[in-house]
Amino acid sequence: MSKFASPIKAALGRVAFVTGAGQGIGRAIACRLARDGYDVSIAEIPTAQGRANDVVKEIESYGRKAISVTAGKYRARRLHRDDVRDAKQLYSAIDETVERLGSKLFVSVANAGVTQVKPLLECTPEFIENEVRLNLLGFMNTHIAAARQMVKQGGGGRIIGAGSIASYRTAENLAPYGATKFAVRGFTEAAAKEWAQYGIRVNAYAPGIVDTPMWDHIDRELAQIEGISLGEAKAIRVKRDIKLGRIQQPEDVAKLVSFLVSDEGEYITGQTIKTCGGSSL
Ligand SMILES: NC(=O)c1ccc[n+]([C@@H]2O[C@H](COP(=O)([O-])OP(=O)(O)OC[C@H]3O[C@@H](n4cnc5c(N)ncnc54)[C@H](O)[C@@H]3O)[C@@H](O)[C@H]2O)c1
Repeated sequence: MSKFASPIKAALGRVAFVTGAGQGIGRAIACRLARDGYDVSIAEIPTAQGRANDVVKEIESYGRKAISVTAGKYRARRLHRDDVRDAKQLYSAIDETVERLGSKLFVSVANAGVTQVKPLLECTPEFIENEVRLNLLGFMNTHIAAARQMVKQGGGGRIIGAGSIASYRTAENLAPYGATKFAVRGFTEAAAKEWAQYGIRVNAYAPGIVDTPMWDHIDRELAQIEGISLGEAKAIRVKRDIKLGRIQQPEDVAKLVSFLVSDEGEYITGQTIKTCGGSSL
């Protein structure tokens, strides 16, 4: 097998690591990968360990192994040494995953992200920093930690990140979020180029409006900014923007991830792929 060839059939084990998998899109991806035959490590912040454990139980009910690990916080703080501590925590989360699930890491999904909603002129440095810490530092460090493990063990792997339709077109009141998601697209391209030689494919999913707690939060914030009632911001955008006529479910995103990590997706790398029901058209 050449070093660029598909490694999946040669992979000894099928272990997947998914950050932010306690709810929403991450949860759907973790459960889908389990149904595809992966043992899954659910990486969450300490306060979400209860939800993470529920996902572990769900995966075990499919007959796969699952564990929950702590993946860090990346919340706004003053001390920069906390960034280092959080990055170290990510590396230990990957080590723990491989050790406890007892096999090679083949899939890593840097799904954790936060959406903050505010007009740009009201964004404080702390507000911007919080967005960048999780959506960018957390994302990049997760990819690098996973890639180091994959290179060390040999046999390639699949690295997936959370982009958004905001990776292509940003929106008012969501500028810092959009900037981080544009960066996801850039990093995905560059990492795909660097890691192709190790048999690692790097891609990202770019959803539209997905029915998760994140969009409930965006809806609440937009209701305040736009002076409309709760639920209206989401309903307007779903009706106006989504050509397929229904809000996206987390499982719709999981289907794309399932394809990208499968043998069928093995010739795809460096892409941030829209899955948005036509809302970006
Ligand atoms: N919901 C959407 O419409 C939508 C659209 C496009 C892109 N996305 C992206 O998809 C990803 C998931 O979105 P979602 O809607 O499921 O979000 P969500 O807010 O519903 O869930 C995010 C999960 O991430 C966890 N988390 C937060 N910080 C973490 C950290 N440092 N380490 C590990 N876990 C952490 C949270 O506890 C939570 O369980 C995000 O990156 C988001 O930007 C979402």
